[in-house]
Amino acid sequence: MIDNSSAEKQYQSLLYSSKVVTDNYDYLVKFCEQLHKRHQYLMPGESSSWTYSKYNFFTLMGSDVIVWKLLKELKIMIVDYLNKHNESTESIWIESWLNYHTPQQLLKDLPWHNHVEVKLHGYISIRPHDTKTIFFESSKVIDNKVGTVMIGPGANYHKVEIVEPFDTPRITIAFDIHNGNYEMNLLDLPVDACYNSNYIPLV
Ligand SMILES: [Fe+2]
Repeated sequence: MIDNSSAEKQYQSLLYSSKVVTDNYDYLVKFCEQLHKRHQYLMPGESSSWTYSKYNFFTLMGSDVIVWKLLKELKIMIVDYLNKHNESTESIWIESWLNYHTPQQLLKDLPWHNHVEVKLHGYISIRPHDTKTIFFESSKVIDNKVGTVMIGPGANYHKVEIVEPFDTPRITIAFDIHNGNYEMNLLDLPVDACYNSNYIPLV
């Protein structure tokens, strides 16, 4: 499951390979297509990427055995990443969203960006088509394959490039990892503050 032959430790991002995705590819594509339909029912016309704070991929459709296996597998990868970087594995939380894009939507939705507010960011490639993820600071390039999982610092700027145009939506599951208290003064926040209620405990 763990494939770090192409890892670039210099920039502290690691690549893994999801057996759950490769073993259940057809099911997970259908699951993501259905989840996108549900997202559009709940948030018509909005991007399932940029509404990331309003839902969690792993809970939007309720309980599912394959998705549970995917989350458990991801947990092992996250713990491995944290252990390799001598980081604590206590109180690890995850937010997660669906990237679901035509080529045109992809270029508009995912230009250069980072996730600087969180400790770790990553993605699981479900149907990545022929695309590359490029990192600004390191010039690192990831050739996305079915099951490719990237975990790295949230601060790394990155974008997706299309190698070959595609005619079905590109699908990845993105996630942010946060540890400890998101707000140090949580008990003092007003009830209408921006709570991060889309996070679920992972470890
Ligand atoms: Fe991103």
